[in-house]
Amino acid sequence: MAGSRYEYVRLFEQHDKLLPGCWIVVRLDGRGFSRFSNTHNFTKPNDLRALHLANAAAKHVLLTFDNHIVFAYGQSDEFSFVLRRQSTLFGRREDKILSTIVSLFTAAYVAKWSSFMNIPMTIIPSFDGRVVLYPTTRHLRDYLSWRQADVHINNLYNTAFWTLVQRENKSTKEAEEILRHTLSKDKHEILHAHQINYNNEPEIFRKGSLLVKLMPKQLDATVETHDKHNDVSVLHQDIISDQFWSNYPDLLSPSDLEPPRVHQ
Ligand code: GTP
Ligand code: MG
Repeated sequence: MAGSRYEYVRLFEQHDKLLPGCWIVVRLDGRGFSRFSNTHNFTKPNDLRALHLANAAAKHVLLTFDNHIVFAYGQSDEFSFVLRRQSTLFGRREDKILSTIVSLFTAAYVAKWSSFMNIPMTIIPSFDGRVVLYPTTRHLRDYLSWRQADVHINNLYNTAFWTLVQRENKSTKEAEEILRHTLSKDKHEILHAHQINYNNEPEIFRKGSLLVKLMPKQLDATVETHDKHNDVSVLHQDIISDQFWSNYPDLLSPSDLEPPRVHQ
């Protein structure tokens, strides 16, 4: 059936297709979460309830697209979703993949808020999103290592910062000044003075959360901590080392040696 005479305007639409064979990473990040977390009295530096809420929202996204998203990694107000390199989700249309994942996560975050938080939501949250393509598994591993190193750097800093403020009654300005020229070992020492061993802080704070749908066989191979929510496992492990990935070889397949075939 012929369309209306206005239909030609569709010719102006542009749909970028993501390169075939590349890993697709969709990273979203809370907009203005410094204010959002203050307004809703998030515990400083880490609010366990808020982290569990973000994990639950990400789990919803993962389960909705579980043939396409291999795993997701989250920390603070951000989440990265890793799509199979051979995924054909929405014909690999960038705008559709990005907008759907970001809006689904945001909607799930709002819908699940009251199951985790005991304060009314007074600011409506939004998340920005970007798509990044990684042509090789090495690039993808380095991306994930970058995000986990970021958790470590920020969390050590924030833990020392809030210890100075909350336990030594420093102003935020003073705490900033004290930490300005410190190395990692100095921050550990500040914590030690308050009987805090940073390495004993909860793993979810130090390592972030990796959400993965695992087959039972793979779960048996898990030696470290995991919480199992239905069929999605939430792992708080070191994902920088080779060890983790050799425990879960299926997550990074197909390898660069046998890249997916590209079809017309
Ligand atoms: P844009 O992303 O640029 O819009 O800014 P932002 O304010 O969201 O800051 P950014 O994404 O760089 O950093 C996230 C911010 O969220 C942190 O700096 C904290 O202020 C806040 N945040 C995230 N998680 C927590 C938490 O568990 N507790 C508290 N208190 N704050 C958190
Ligand atoms: Mg943010």
